[in-house]
Amino acid sequence: MTVRILDGRAIGRAIRTRITIDVDELTRFAGVVPGLAVILIGGDPASRVYVTNKMKACVDVGIRSTLIEYPDDVPAEVLIESIRRLNEDPVTHGILVQLPLPPHHDVRAVLHTISVEKDVDGFHLYNVGGLVVGDTIFSPCTPFGVMKILDHAHIPLEGRNVTIVGASNIVGKPMALMMMRRDATVAVCHAKTRDVAQYTILADILVVAAGVPNLILPQMVRTGAVVIDVGINRLPDGRLVGDVDFEGVSRKASFITPVPGGVGPMTVTMLLVNTLSAARRFVERTRGPILPPAHSEDIT
Ligand code: GUN
Repeated sequence: MTVRILDGRAIGRAIRTRITIDVDELTRFAGVVPGLAVILIGGDPASRVYVTNKMKACVDVGIRSTLIEYPDDVPAEVLIESIRRLNEDPVTHGILVQLPLPPHHDVRAVLHTISVEKDVDGFHLYNVGGLVVGDTIFSPCTPFGVMKILDHAHIPLEGRNVTIVGASNIVGKPMALMMMRRDATVAVCHAKTRDVAQYTILADILVVAAGVPNLILPQMVRTGAVVIDVGINRLPDGRLVGDVDFEGVSRKASFITPVPGGVGPMTVTMLLVNTLSAARRFVERTRGPILPPAHSEDIT
């Protein structure tokens, strides 16, 4: 079977080109530059890399981004108060608190303090609940990016077997809900699942977000399956790999995402999409529905 590589970098680039045009139009039309505030707590090197990438991507498309940094031991009230101030700030349209937080913070309390209209990560209860009934304002960026990759490749979802390995609040659970909204039949495996292979072998579309290198081996994958690898793991030798044995599984899959260059760039791209959307909603809320449609919204 000849595998096709799902190139998240290229898809992301095409969407970002459109976002740049949309940001420019919004600025000229309404005098508003989309603004993202990023809160980073503590010195976790991986989080710092992710935040740096997100802020660089903002600069590239003309979104204004502001970094607010706190030490590991910042009191919970200081963090909550900082979010409340950003909720009221008219030049901040999106707020992102990089996770994970140090253990003394109540992550739910923090995420639910973010105004629903500025929740560009899609982690607020309203946006999470909206995935069930189809009323989200902002979809979480990683599963949103996976959907874009699949749509871009015209891979149908209706009636197909989707297996998701990993049940996190950030990826696995919202991914399952988004797939169900598209009428897929969904199985979700997690750390307590007995014999993960009996589920993965059934999958027409396999999404893996477990954070375990080489978790998915060729014998676990149906011939012709679409394989989406959300994992990003740094090996002791410095290499960056996903959760899927890329070489082996590529010989059986019809489509596969590489790591790096697959889902990762799409996560950042969807953050830009959400931030632009937040700024457009701000303009429409404060001045009425006057905006022409965004170019980046209809790209698949
Ligand atoms: N940590 C890992 N992934 C994410 C993400 O998508 N958003 C935030 N805020 N933190 C993360």
